[in-house]
Amino acid sequence: MSHPVPVQFRETEVEALIAAEGRIAILVEPGTALGPAGRRIDRATRGAVARALASDAAAKLKPGEAMDLAYPAGLACDALQLVRLPKRTDTAAARKAGGAIGRGLGEKPLTVVAEAHPRAAEVALGLVLRAYDFTAHKSGEKKLQGPVRMMVAAPEAVAAEVAPLMALAEGVCFTRDLVNEPANVLTTQDFAERLLGLRDLGVEVEVLEEAELAKLGMRALLGVGQGSESPSKVVVMQWKGGARDDAPLALVGKGVVFDTGGISIKPAAGMEEMTMDMGGAGVVAGVMRTLALRKAKANVVGLVGLVENMPDGRAQRPGDVVRSMKGDTIEVINTDAEGRLVLADVLWYAQDRFKPKGVIDLATLTGAIIIALGHENAGVFSNDDALCTSFLKAAMAEGEGAWRMPMGEGYDARLKSRIADMMNVGGREGGAVTAAQFLARFVKPDVPWIHLDIAGVALSKADQPLAPKGATGWGVMALNRLIRDRHEG
Ligand code: BES
Ligand code: MN
Ligand code: ZN
Repeated sequence: MSHPVPVQFRETEVEALIAAEGRIAILVEPGTALGPAGRRIDRATRGAVARALASDAAAKLKPGEAMDLAYPAGLACDALQLVRLPKRTDTAAARKAGGAIGRGLGEKPLTVVAEAHPRAAEVALGLVLRAYDFTAHKSGEKKLQGPVRMMVAAPEAVAAEVAPLMALAEGVCFTRDLVNEPANVLTTQDFAERLLGLRDLGVEVEVLEEAELAKLGMRALLGVGQGSESPSKVVVMQWKGGARDDAPLALVGKGVVFDTGGISIKPAAGMEEMTMDMGGAGVVAGVMRTLALRKAKANVVGLVGLVENMPDGRAQRPGDVVRSMKGDTIEVINTDAEGRLVLADVLWYAQDRFKPKGVIDLATLTGAIIIALGHENAGVFSNDDALCTSFLKAAMAEGEGAWRMPMGEGYDARLKSRIADMMNVGGREGGAVTAAQFLARFVKPDVPWIHLDIAGVALSKADQPLAPKGATGWGVMALNRLIRDRHEG
């Protein structure tokens, strides 16, 4: 499992900078005087810092962007990185500045000169998120990263401020590892074992096996997994940091460890991407890890449905009818619309057992949401304006794109089946909305609910300011903030 690279905070030691090896990153604000450490480095380089800052290239830097000076004469380091300071209050730009620093992190030491910058902790968060690297399957000697030192005016205060942010980074890295892992490694069994590891942090974890799921009547979920050698499982994770009698918030995740489409098999091109079809479950796991690490004062239960969607002699067929735990019957028109079948049963179980005060599900549910929103925003569907608005605010504050989508009876009507209570698909048009309508049928009246379709945002094909290409961990930060702001004290 990868952890965020550790960052040490210490007071600014001006003379140590002259001899520092590796890379030195200085946070600078064009047009503003350098601090004592910056001035000392400028003097040692005979004014190179000041000249660089006066250049056109520096003038073009946006907050959070960086420029490099290689092998600066007068210093022992290999590179001096000038990172444009964000506005004093801008958290997002502070993280982005950290991201610019974390991007090139290798084996050599890194010294960040933050001096009295009030967002030093946020810079550190951005740094460790961007420095994340999935190397589990790279042969050869594993290259360690760092050490990373940050020189700040008040090291103890910054270290205290950074602790909950590093809990957040741990959660994001946990999610990314799970999503990046291939399906021959992250089987349903392996996934469940990794979640059992959360017990060490004080999370209560139960694994429900197929026999139990059958007893509960989860035939919709079991139908999806019946063509796979890997047994289907539901994992329940309870974090009880709040008051005893306080109803929990439930987080529900789609955990399809691989989605071939089943008998309605997907085309070969790009199918390898479907290792990320457990992304919703990955986010739920990451949030639970963060909550436990920062000892959140909230009751939150995470439930994930772990299945593999494979074609096989025993696999579910198009046209099969299954009965859900709720009791409604579903005509499976397309075995590739499997996520909603899994979620239907886990959503119902979550409400039945925990009587939660709210339910948020996450799923890489539809290709249609990618057609609608691209990779910039996740689709947000909700039956509760207050909860939805809180979530959208939290996502905005964390820089995680989220856009509310419509719902309504007209869409729901498309799920009508000739022979069962509903079909599992509502046609190509508005496909992300009819998928949400399907889920809504398994949400009890008066339970505030949000469905997040993260098919477009769970994975990125290009490097991002705060993540290398691959799994993003989208949603861990927004949900953590939502819980902090809405459910803690
Ligand atoms: N896991 C896919 C959705 C998906 C597509 C996620 C692309 C990430 C990237 C889901 O199970 C699926 O196959 N959905 C179908 C539904 C259709 C058959 C109604 C789709 O979107 O094509
Ligand atoms: Mn599918
Ligand atoms: Zn799927």
